[in-house]
Amino acid sequence: MSEREDKMSRATVLVADDDRTIRRNLARLLGAEGYRALEAADGAEALERIRSGAVDAVLLDLKMPKLDGLDVLGELGPLLAELPVIVVTAFGGSAAAIEAMRRGAYDYVTKPFDLDDILLTLERALKQRALAAEVRALRADRVDDEAPGTGLVGDGPELVGRSPAMREVFKAIGRAAATEEPVLIVGESGTGKELAASALHRHSSRAAGPFVRVNCGALAEGLIESELFGHERGAFTGADRQRAGRFERAAGGTIFLDEVGELPASAQAKLLRVLQNHEFERVGGTETLRSNARVVSATHRDLPKEVAAGRFREDLYYRLNVVRITIPSLRERVEDVPPLAEVVLRALERKYGWSGLSLTAEALVRIESLPWPGNVRQLENVLARAAIAARGRAILPEHLDVDEPAASIVDEVLAADRAEAPLPLRALLADVERRAIQRALDACAGNRTRAAERLGISRRQLFDKIKEYDLKV
Ligand SMILES: Nc1ncnc2c1ncn2[C@@H]1O[C@H](COP(=O)(O)OP(=O)(O)OP(=O)(O)O)[C@@H](O)[C@H]1O
Ligand SMILES: [Mg+2]
Repeated sequence: MSEREDKMSRATVLVADDDRTIRRNLARLLGAEGYRALEAADGAEALERIRSGAVDAVLLDLKMPKLDGLDVLGELGPLLAELPVIVVTAFGGSAAAIEAMRRGAYDYVTKPFDLDDILLTLERALKQRALAAEVRALRADRVDDEAPGTGLVGDGPELVGRSPAMREVFKAIGRAAATEEPVLIVGESGTGKELAASALHRHSSRAAGPFVRVNCGALAEGLIESELFGHERGAFTGADRQRAGRFERAAGGTIFLDEVGELPASAQAKLLRVLQNHEFERVGGTETLRSNARVVSATHRDLPKEVAAGRFREDLYYRLNVVRITIPSLRERVEDVPPLAEVVLRALERKYGWSGLSLTAEALVRIESLPWPGNVRQLENVLARAAIAARGRAILPEHLDVDEPAASIVDEVLAADRAEAPLPLRALLADVERRAIQRALDACAGNRTRAAERLGISRRQLFDKIKEYDLKV
């Protein structure tokens, strides 16, 4: 017996199925794999056995006399957070499966089932359950711990980061907050430019005033000026009354010009004038208004390049760029990935009412080695999807579905190299192996014998790798 099988051997699994042959066979198989197997011939008996304790996981048939599988799930309710139930259903349709998952089942397999599938699913479920219990125990031990790697704290979302690069960003925000100068925040998409802008506002002397955001890229060319500076009644068709613009509404506060690189030329000219002497007119108006809003802008574009190409006014660029804050990409600060993930997971727990949502060590290695072209936002999205796939428990590598066009391993190595970031060779190699095996499995439609042939390894070796990497079959 392998060490892994030995570890699982203490687990007690209840097989609930009214079909005696299936039940006996499953129980025998589980016994042969080192589990302790219990049996129940209907839903009521299953419930009774579960409630009497000492059951670590359940294989649950849906169609059963007395109480059917869905009823059993309904009765178990919150208990399911700690008890993985794998539903075994004869129906191919999605309705029963969806309903079972909605009621808190861990996973489901359809009949006729592949015994390997059941064993893999079961092992995964038990592993996650053990991890979730550990996480709960750990958390109970250190309730007073402060939030991990938190940089700026204010009356709003915090910027998380403990890397030297982010510490520099926090310092720059603090310095800029003490002045009234325009600030330009640059960085790739999803790096936290907007969050940095709002932190800057909250830490400035204008914190009590409004923080007004304008997305310069989202508005049609004709509308942007009226949005920024307002309009007079009758200024254009549809302008049936006078309207204040965002500069007026940001009086005493901060105006955040997001995607400022997208501003059309005429709006660029008007903005320049506001920055030079604080003056502007509403669209269609003659009265000159004064603005005291502090201007913070952001772009993911290379503005000097836009200037060189004649798309952005050079004088405006210099006015916006008095203080510049550059937010590094996530791959340049891998050490921020764990604290960011931690904060994202805790937010997901609050949102969905979960406890025990965590990352396995393997999943963490994987997210640390990804290039994250979409930076923190992408990390958030991937973790949210993974958490749902993991049903609020431990996230395994297989739950991490990175939908960006998969960067080649070579790109990843080069990106890490350029950034002089740590280059975790083992994680990279494991990643290649994992991908190759997953690809072979997909290509062979999950047929392990053919996939093993294709990979030039034995079926047993393949089986071990599937377990090791928690692959989808
Ligand atoms: N340091 C951080 N700590 C916590 N959350 C962060 C951090 N950086 C970014 N985020 C989160 O990531 C998401 C993207 O951040 P934000 O919208 O500020 O990025 P952005 O640079 O403005 O992106 P884009 O260029 O796509 O507009 C947000 O949900 C934000 O809360
Ligand atoms: Mg943004």
